[in-house]
Amino acid sequence: MLAVKGGTENVESAQGASRGRRTIHGTRPVLPDLDSWQQHVGGWFVPAALAELLGSPATPVERLAQSWLATGGKRLRPLLAAGVHAVLSGEGVTDEARAVAVAVECFHKASLAHDDVEDNDRLRYGLPTLHVSHGVPIAINSGDYLIGEGYRLLATLPAPARVRARLLTAAAEGHRALCLGQGEELDFAAAPHPLNTGDYARICKRKTGAVFAVAGMLGAIRTDASEAVCATLTRFGHSVGLAYQIRDDLADVAQPGGGDLGALRPCILLALACESRAPDVAGAL
Ligand code: IPE
Ligand code: MG
Repeated sequence: MLAVKGGTENVESAQGASRGRRTIHGTRPVLPDLDSWQQHVGGWFVPAALAELLGSPATPVERLAQSWLATGGKRLRPLLAAGVHAVLSGEGVTDEARAVAVAVECFHKASLAHDDVEDNDRLRYGLPTLHVSHGVPIAINSGDYLIGEGYRLLATLPAPARVRARLLTAAAEGHRALCLGQGEELDFAAAPHPLNTGDYARICKRKTGAVFAVAGMLGAIRTDASEAVCATLTRFGHSVGLAYQIRDDLADVAQPGGGDLGALRPCILLALACESRAPDVAGAL
């Protein structure tokens, strides 16, 4: 049976139970029922659940930040945090992991608000971006506010001080890496130069991989996992980030104006084209 425990609630998935091997139980996860996990994690981001965890929004800043947190997205990063926690604790997806999972999404949503300003993108999730709907100053402030909320969630977690210190350190290091990756991309956009796939991979592992790495690590640290486990999850997060970014880049080419490639931002096609020795590719570039 798949047990999805939440505080006092204990929900069991009949669908999961009927599938047998797609379920997890106790300390011997076989194949996790990711659909059920994702559904449960998604429930943490409905407005009422966010208000319960973060406090009822009393100001326009809080209202906008919580509504941006509730909008769109597949919740992959919080799912990774909760999933790692579930596997290492052997308890299934529980509300134990909820605060760290929401903190990860706070960091991610903050980075998107800022990234859309930096990229001057007008749409996200098929909706106007925050700076388009509310203006650049409010979009920047919403992102800053969400960063604060993420750190607040980690700092106030009911966990031993040592665990809290590890969570905060992992988040801060990830945050720093993300800004270094974004910074390198912005520097490139300001002064484009030949890009190779090594440079591209470094940028992606930082700007996109950092949050995936933080997600896995926070889920692990919540269970007081070893540094070796965290190091493995960091490498995994960086690889997932690189793969995710390649896929995102390829989808982006279809955007009007050619997306990242058209704007000469670092992307996989540009890196491959720069490395290509084929005369027609070099000519087109
Ligand atoms: C976003 O990278 C990475 C961060 C938010 C740090 P991109 O700019 O390539 O991604 P999209 O296409 O806007 O989502
Ligand atoms: Mg962008």
